[in-house]
Amino acid sequence: MAIVVTDSRFIQACLGQPHDTVPVWFMRQAGRYQPSYRALRSRFSMLELARTPIHIRDVTVRPVEDLGVDAAILFSDIMIPLDGMNIRFDIKEHVGPLVFDPIRTGADVARLAPFNREKVDFVFEGIRRTVEALGPTTPLLGFSGAPFTLASYLIEGGPSRTYRRTKAWMWTDPPGFEALLSRLADMAVQYLTGQVEAGASALQIFDSWVGTLATVDYRAAVLPHMVRIFQALAPLGVPLIYFGVGTPHLLSDMKSLGATVLGIDWRTPITEARALVGPDVGLMGNLDPERLVAGQSQALMGARGIVEAMKGDGRYIFNLGHGVPKESDPMVLKALVAHVHQWGRYSS
Ligand code: CP3
Repeated sequence: MAIVVTDSRFIQACLGQPHDTVPVWFMRQAGRYQPSYRALRSRFSMLELARTPIHIRDVTVRPVEDLGVDAAILFSDIMIPLDGMNIRFDIKEHVGPLVFDPIRTGADVARLAPFNREKVDFVFEGIRRTVEALGPTTPLLGFSGAPFTLASYLIEGGPSRTYRRTKAWMWTDPPGFEALLSRLADMAVQYLTGQVEAGASALQIFDSWVGTLATVDYRAAVLPHMVRIFQALAPLGVPLIYFGVGTPHLLSDMKSLGATVLGIDWRTPITEARALVGPDVGLMGNLDPERLVAGQSQALMGARGIVEAMKGDGRYIFNLGHGVPKESDPMVLKALVAHVHQWGRYSS
C-alpha cells in the first residue's frame, strides 16, 4: 500500500498551498561531503551503492536525519536507467559518467534496446524501502535526467565543456538526433512513472547542461520532447520540478511546459526569475554552492538575502543553485537548514 505524504511544507510550497515556513532541501544532499557516505564508498563503488536497494535507502534517508531537510531525493544517478537499455557506462570519480560505446549515428540509435523497466527494478525496490523508512511526513523526490543532458553524455562519451559532437549531430542529422532524444524521452516517462508507482511524492527532471543551447535550438530540438514528457507525467498528479544550469534564456519555454516548479542556478537573481516567469509556477534555488565552501558566515549571508526576498512568495523552495560541493562542512549545511526555517517563517 502506497504511503501518502501529508502535511509536507515542501509539497505545499510546490503547489502554492499555505505552509508555515520556507522549505529546504539540497541537490546532492547525499554525497562525499558526508563522512558516513565516504565510509560506505571505501567499501563499495558509487554504482554498487546505486544498484542495491538497502544502500539506496540508507544513503537517501541519512541527510534527512542529519540535516533536517524537508524532502529526501532518491540516491541514484541520471545514468542508472540506461541499464534498462543495455547501455554500458561507468562513473569515474572526479570525472563523471563515461559511456563505453558512444552513440553518434542513427544506426547506433537503432541498435539500442527498448527501455526495460524490470532491469532497473532495484531502483523501484530502493524507493519502496526508502518511503517506508521516511514515514508519512517526509516526501521522497524521484528523478530522471532529461533527454538533452543524457544525450550529451551518450554522444560525447563523457563530460564535455563545448558539447561539440552533440551540437554538430543536432545540426547535421536532425532525424538521427531526434530519434535518440525520443528514445530517451520514452525512457524518462516510463522510469518516472515507475518511481511514482513505487512511492515517490514528487519528481525532478535534471536538464543540467541544456543551458548550453541557444533558445532557437532548444525550441527546435529539445522542447517537443519535453512537451511530451510533461504531458505524459501530468496525470500522475505529483509536483514536477524542471532544473537546468544557466537557463535564463530558456525560462519562458521551460515554464510553458507546465512544470510545477522551476529550479534556478545561482547566476540569475531569483527575484528576476520570478519577474520573468510570473506568479503561477514554483521557484527553487538559488544559493551559490561555493558559499558553503567559503564558510558558514558566507553561506548564511547569501541565504538570508534570498530568503528575505522570497519568503512572501508562497511558491518558493530554498535550495542551492546546483549540487553540494564535496568540500562542504556538514555543520554548515545543518546551520543553513535551521536558519532558513527560522528566517522563512510566515508570521500569521
Ligand atoms: O542529489 C542527491 O543527493 C541525489 C543523488 C544524485 C547523484 N547524481 C549522486 C551522485 C543525483 C540527483 C545525481 C544526478 C546527476 N548525475 C546529474 C544531474 C544533477 C547535476 O548535478 O546537475 C548529473 C549531471 C550527473 C552525472 C554525474 N554523476 C556527475 C557529474 C558526477 C560527479 C563526478 C565526481 O566524482 O565528481 C556523478 C557521480 C555522482 N552522482 C556522485 C554522487 C553522490 C559522486 C560519486 C561518488 O560517490 O564517487
